[in-house]
Amino acid sequence: MAKKVRVAFIGAGELANIVHYPSLASFKDVEIVALCDLSEERRNATAAKFNVARTFSDYRQMLQSVKVDAVYVILPPQLLHEPVVYCLKAGLHVFTDKPPGVTPHQTRAWAGLAARHKNLTMVGFQRRYAPIMRKAREQVIKRGGAIQHAVAQYYKGYKGGLYYEGAIDILTCDAIHAVDALRWVAGGEVVDVTSDLRDQVGRGFHDLFTATVRFSNGCLGFLFGNWNCGAYRFAVEMHANRTSAFVEINKRALYHEDGNQEGEVWETRDVAGSDDMLDDFGFRAENRHFIDCIKSGRQPDSHFGDAAKSMELVEKIHRAARPEPSSVPAPPPQKASGAGRSRPRRAKSR
Ligand SMILES: NC(=O)c1ccc[n+]([C@@H]2O[C@H](COP(=O)([O-])OP(=O)(O)OC[C@H]3O[C@@H](n4cnc5c(N)ncnc54)[C@H](O)[C@@H]3O)[C@@H](O)[C@H]2O)c1
Repeated sequence: MAKKVRVAFIGAGELANIVHYPSLASFKDVEIVALCDLSEERRNATAAKFNVARTFSDYRQMLQSVKVDAVYVILPPQLLHEPVVYCLKAGLHVFTDKPPGVTPHQTRAWAGLAARHKNLTMVGFQRRYAPIMRKAREQVIKRGGAIQHAVAQYYKGYKGGLYYEGAIDILTCDAIHAVDALRWVAGGEVVDVTSDLRDQVGRGFHDLFTATVRFSNGCLGFLFGNWNCGAYRFAVEMHANRTSAFVEINKRALYHEDGNQEGEVWETRDVAGSDDMLDDFGFRAENRHFIDCIKSGRQPDSHFGDAAKSMELVEKIHRAARPEPSSVPAPPPQKASGAGRSRPRRAKSR
């Protein structure tokens, strides 16, 4: 495809403005042809900022008026289904951010439609595309062979209430980043799962998630998610034969061979060649991957069919959860401030 890839957006909200519009605007082979948002203020501000010629308040009208190759549908999870299905049936390639819908059933339905209509699809699990994560996984496998033991940790000091007023739970909406990273690091299919979930401070929803996952290739995976933590942390461990990487994505990776405690230290910003969040968290790389896949006609790594497996693992973690022991006293409820969702933020300490 020599000509520019023509893209339209459904959604001009916060995340799209922080990561997807700027990533695409930085590519010479992409044209953002049109955008759609219900909010006039957001439409106008985003169109002015990223030089988008046409704006709409109705996505159907937009897609009947402009000719595009691909559509970014960046909306709250519970609003994704209708526009995603519309785009797939119209034969357009589709990018959504995580989570891919609110149930695995929905994601599987999208994957089925995409197979029928021959669409290329992608879910924005950006951490898979972060240069520090790629380098660590490649190096551990190259030196140590198959990864036998994987750990994914995702921690937040979340003070809010239900995500999207309860339209979706935290594990499916947000901790799925760690679930997906665990699958990606392990590289096999899920065989079975044991798990524990907790509502730590009586907020009425689970904010502690732990799971042990056995994969078909023998890898044993451990998930730790905690939304009542003292600080943000996203970290992954990858262990193969006498070879290990400990990756703290917004800081650095420690790489060790043969019990050498010293090891190597890889700073995230050095590996990414930049300390711009677009680069070190993998946002620009995920968008580049989608565009390159469209140009070469191949399915992106985190296509809807693959993303459905992360949604299915989330569901298995929910289903496998052992009952909370009644002997565990619940700590007193804390005052919740705001009901905000999580956002990718520039980490304060680097
Ligand atoms: N990858 C990440 O790390 C990450 C981080 C934050 C959010 N997200 C995901 O990004 C998505 C968007 O989140 P956000 O916080 O930017 O949301 P947002 O609420 O800021 O933006 C959503 C936008 O969609 C518009 N909208 C709603 N219905 C519409 C419709 N029918 N047609 C056109 N526009 C419509 C709203 O007016 C709003 O501007 C969510 O799925 C969220 O889970 C991903």
